[in-house]
Amino acid sequence: MAVELTFHGHACFTLRGSGATLLLDPFFTNNPLADVSADSVEADYILVSHGHGDHFGDTVAITRCTGATVISNFEIATYCENQGLKAHALHLGGGWEFPFGRVKLTIAHHGSTLPDGSPGGNPAGFLLDIEEKRIYFAGDDDALQAVGLLNPRLVIPMHYGTWPLVEQDPHAFAKRVEEMGVRCSVLPSGQKLTL
Ligand code: NI
Ligand code: MN
Repeated sequence: MAVELTFHGHACFTLRGSGATLLLDPFFTNNPLADVSADSVEADYILVSHGHGDHFGDTVAITRCTGATVISNFEIATYCENQGLKAHALHLGGGWEFPFGRVKLTIAHHGSTLPDGSPGGNPAGFLLDIEEKRIYFAGDDDALQAVGLLNPRLVIPMHYGTWPLVEQDPHAFAKRVEEMGVRCSVLPSGQKLTL
């Protein structure tokens, strides 16, 4: 079975597979690249890599109206539970078998303070096993170096072009990835890809 991925700009993706819809880092409001608005997206699970506003994004509003379960580190999961939302906490290195597949939190070198200043624990990446596909959401990283270490089958660049601070040419990056013998797909916001 396939996993369908949709890019929404910045670090925000929808993944559909194994009968579930997952939203990763649901940043729609104030995301200049977002192809849809927060009130029109579906989600059964919302995965949050860290507390920064451009990743935590619309987590509370979307979880309220969809009834989705937030999957994140203990601090962010507890923060959501304290607002009456459903959440499942994992710690770095911890994994859990969900109905759609397995999620493991991996180390990311970054910060995680929540938009209101609450402590957001440690930032994370996600290792996802869905429908016999392994997807690694690395977060903000030295991407080219990571490609060399991981040797993936496909690279999808993210977290670029949203603001001047993260201005990058994804096609120049893709060229360098392809020179390493790895496929790279630059997705415009709103584009779907079947894995
Ligand atoms: Ni951040
Ligand atoms: Mn960010």
